[in-house]
Amino acid sequence: MALTQNEYGFDLKVDNPFLIFRVLAKVAQEKVGVDKVLDLSRGDPGYGFAPNSRSRKFYSFLVALDTHFNNFDTHFKDRVVGEEAELLRQIDAFANETYKPEVANELMKDFTEFCAGVIEAAHRQELEWNHFDVLFHLFKYATVSGGCYHDPYGELISRVVVADYHSQNLLTSVKYSDLVLTHGASDAIGTFFKAFGEEGSKWLVKGDSVLITSPVYFPYMNILKSRGLNILTVSVNPENGQFDEDTFEKLGDAKPKLIVLVDPDNPTGFTKNEASLKLLAAYAEKVDAMILSDEVYHSFHPGKKSILNFARNRTIRIDARSKIERATGCRFGEFIVVDEANTYLTKMLKGFIPASAEDIKHYLYIAKGPGSAFGEFQHTTFVPGPGQILSLCHIILGEKERAKYVDLLKQNMETWYAGLGLKWGGNFYYSQFDMNAISTDAKKKIPAERKLLDLAERGVVLIPANLFFSVEDREAADRRNYVRGSLPNLTNSQVAEAAKIIREYLQS
Ligand SMILES: Cc1ncc(COP(=O)(O)O)c(C=O)c1O
Repeated sequence: MALTQNEYGFDLKVDNPFLIFRVLAKVAQEKVGVDKVLDLSRGDPGYGFAPNSRSRKFYSFLVALDTHFNNFDTHFKDRVVGEEAELLRQIDAFANETYKPEVANELMKDFTEFCAGVIEAAHRQELEWNHFDVLFHLFKYATVSGGCYHDPYGELISRVVVADYHSQNLLTSVKYSDLVLTHGASDAIGTFFKAFGEEGSKWLVKGDSVLITSPVYFPYMNILKSRGLNILTVSVNPENGQFDEDTFEKLGDAKPKLIVLVDPDNPTGFTKNEASLKLLAAYAEKVDAMILSDEVYHSFHPGKKSILNFARNRTIRIDARSKIERATGCRFGEFIVVDEANTYLTKMLKGFIPASAEDIKHYLYIAKGPGSAFGEFQHTTFVPGPGQILSLCHIILGEKERAKYVDLLKQNMETWYAGLGLKWGGNFYYSQFDMNAISTDAKKKIPAERKLLDLAERGVVLIPANLFFSVEDREAADRRNYVRGSLPNLTNSQVAEAAKIIREYLQS
């Protein structure tokens, strides 16, 4: 989809915001120089933060060790359980031969912590693993280095660690067998619509109703629109992101087959509280709809309740390491389909799921491959081993740096709102605001396209949020002055600088 070639080079009413921000970034780069651009447009945190350092160093140790265990002369698969003590001795010797003593010492400490982390997670997942099991899952067929086709459901070690992580954070049971790994959350989203749309089971076809919140992460709007689905929307309270008591009553006798929830939300950055989740769960039950819950920002709020806590039998949950581990490039995400959902939704979709699939979870596994929804490439559609194991290192060894990152991000939120002179509503990661809320009357009269370009010329890049809103919301009020700022991509002083530039510009 090309951008409208008007006097600004784009039209906020119709053009894809993810294409517009590239134009704005180019303007900013040309005007102030790449190094001075204050880019608040991108949702991936890799521009402001790096992945965990400790776990990256440890991962490099695992890859180095892999060269010891898997080479022309030997292959890890030939080892046997009885050799655990010998393997541990070899690992210690390898570390001491390869690294300076203090580095070897650090790595061996991390090795102990990593193995203990996996073994404890496995225990909580009702698997009794020892060190050999951990080593086997890392080094069999050089998994850690991507030396083989991996399990398309996800390597067992990965599913064990991630399921345990979710069980702790969501305060509800998630089993490793509930997981189907995908190439990040976006692959899960694409797979979902491919599996159930016209090219798959035909459960969700043109004219069927799907309920979604407004505003929402733009690709969902695009997907629903391009598939000819009937988009029903509910608006959230702009102050706090919650549903009101009567939010769902307003839908009358509409009958959505599917409800898409993004919680925590993009673009507003708000999390749904228990009251909102209960309202949604009750509505979903009333209309007997499936829920697709995209929770890629949940890990920033451990302990927060998910819709999974209230609508367990009808929710397919999506999560990923992308944002919390500053590791979008690992492409490690997953579907979570707990047993209750697998049973209930498989029954709900009776007659739609292809005969080759045992149930809905298996169907998602089949559908996630490249090509059709019927799984021509099932054996090659795994998340690469290096991405999986590096991510596990992040999860297990990353707690301290993760906490620091979350804290810095919180400081960015505070600085941003203070700098703009707007009230911070407790939203996180993203900030959506109306430029008119801080503009002078004269600036309000200037087209939003011009304002975005003027800000870009001053080095500040924002993503326009107009099309994140539903048609109804856009008809009810002009949303072209709404923008989204993404706060994990700048240092605190850069955030302060960006807010200052925006405020000075809009108030001049
Ligand atoms: C709500 C939401 N879902 C999915 C994604 C995509 O995540 P991933 O990089 O894991 O594909 C994003 C990225 O911005 C997002 O904000």
